[in-house]
Amino acid sequence: MSEPGSTPLYRDGRHYDAFNRHMVADIPFYVEEARRAAGPVLELACGTGRLAIPIAQSGVEIVGLDQSPSMLAHLRTKAKEAGVEIPLVEADCRAFDLGRKFALIFIGFNSMQHLHDLASLAALFANVRRHLAPGGKFVFDVFNPSIAILTRDAERSREREYEDPDAGGRITMDQTLVYDDATQVSHVRWFFSRNSPNGDERDFRIEDLRLRCFFPQELDLLVRSQGFEIEAKCGNFERKPFASGDQKQVVVCRSKWESVSEGCEWSEICANSTGLREAGFFVGRHRGMVRERGKRGPHFLTYADFYQEDGICFGCCSTCPRNPTLPFSVKEE
Ligand SMILES: C[S@@+](CC[C@H](N)C(=O)[O-])C[C@H]1O[C@@H](n2cnc3c(N)ncnc32)[C@H](O)[C@@H]1O
Repeated sequence: MSEPGSTPLYRDGRHYDAFNRHMVADIPFYVEEARRAAGPVLELACGTGRLAIPIAQSGVEIVGLDQSPSMLAHLRTKAKEAGVEIPLVEADCRAFDLGRKFALIFIGFNSMQHLHDLASLAALFANVRRHLAPGGKFVFDVFNPSIAILTRDAERSREREYEDPDAGGRITMDQTLVYDDATQVSHVRWFFSRNSPNGDERDFRIEDLRLRCFFPQELDLLVRSQGFEIEAKCGNFERKPFASGDQKQVVVCRSKWESVSEGCEWSEICANSTGLREAGFFVGRHRGMVRERGKRGPHFLTYADFYQEDGICFGCCSTCPRNPTLPFSVKEE
């Protein structure tokens, strides 16, 4: 699980940008997704605005959320220079409430891999669902784990070089990687060294990064278990269909649950969730109650605290949009 400040690289946006200056392949993809969305966009873990700024420049209304104050501070400076306005929220993507809905929510550049356990991921998906407008999309990308990389010796290897934004000169970055196959978390250690006119400094900074791996079939199940369906899964940002050997998993999905009004018909909840109806779930006409057939005793839950698919119950959550404080109750019919 990520903790604020646990990743030193994210304490300095200028170093982050210098370090990632080569990373541009995903920008046209996310700009296109944002332009296709018929409404405002929310970027989670927006960092220094590497993606958010080009999206704002394309004329799309975008809000950025990140838990690192220094990354957001650097974004603010860059947005001002670029002449765009991007409202920013300092928050954890597992716990936020912006009180509004978005046509597109995305979390790019492997950022979801900062969430290591199911509770964190379930919280992320629940927050996304609550903030998605009807028909809205959730898009993210993560690595496709390479067994060869994960199981190789934890030897130090040269990973990257970049210009030092502070002292000038060149910074080299070496890496070691140890993969924990029980938690599926890669423990990466970065060693920064400096070659500058003022002299060389070996390992002047050492940083640890922990990244959760998502294996492809597991990722699809995770998405479905959180009440989303996958509309497209690509192996790169040119939208090539995902296949063996691809480095990336780029996922476009939609919530199976739509907004629901008090006393609404089942079809208003989600046209695609016919399986739920067959499984015995339906919406009563009384104050938007969801009744569950065949269960003993009253169950007071928010209406989507669970849904059933292929005979398996999964956790979800949502509230009544007319009155978000009113929980939908589930009762024996
Ligand atoms: C790889 S960077 C991506 C930044 C930006 N989206 C980009 O594409 O350059 C990951 C970002 O995730 C943020 N982050 C990590 N865990 C987070 C969390 N739980 N909630 C919000 N932001 C988080 C970090 O502060 C960092 O800015």
